[in-house]
Amino acid sequence: MHEPILGVLCSGRGTNLQSIIAAVESGQIPARIGIVITDKPEAKALERAAAAGIPTCCIDRRACAAKQEFEEKLVAELKKAGVTLVILAGFMRILSPYFVRAFKEHIMNIHPSLLPAFGGAHAHRDVLAYGVKVSGCTIHFVDEGMDSGPIILQDTVPVLDDDMEDTLAARVLVKEHILYPRAIELYLNGQLEIQGRRVKIKN
Ligand code: GRF
Repeated sequence: MHEPILGVLCSGRGTNLQSIIAAVESGQIPARIGIVITDKPEAKALERAAAAGIPTCCIDRRACAAKQEFEEKLVAELKKAGVTLVILAGFMRILSPYFVRAFKEHIMNIHPSLLPAFGGAHAHRDVLAYGVKVSGCTIHFVDEGMDSGPIILQDTVPVLDDDMEDTLAARVLVKEHILYPRAIELYLNGQLEIQGRRVKIKN
């Protein structure tokens, strides 16, 4: 069997990318990261990838006339790198059905809340505004909706009385860095089985 190749898409600082790099280096994730792509030239994720010797590419969304052009470039770069699993790690763009179909059931995303609650771009703010007592993070397969694909793993953290967005985000992030490598590991070991909305984890 061919070696699995990950393509990681990021928009910003890339701490989840860093946890995935560490898991590849330790052997927890049995794959190679073939390429890291960002939609912004200033994304710190590019530096993290380069420091780990991973090929990088920036497709600046602002330099593309339309979303279709942007996504065609993304798909082309991922295919060129031979990517078999696309990892969205803090990638702040909503992908269209065109992109999702190009890698159907082979795209994962991380979201910093317990989906289906608090989807969207301001999860921690929305969690605090609503007043829930528990939050967490979700790893899910990406379908054609927003934050709506079948859920692979979730973990929880308490929401404390004096939490601000940054303190809550930091607590959730600790869980993210454990959960994402674990979900990728399960996928690559053939332990995930999608049955409709449910993802069964086989031993
Ligand atoms: C994480 O909280 C992730 O859940 C969300 O965006 C953030 C990205 O952080 N989608 P980083 O770039 O991985 O540090």
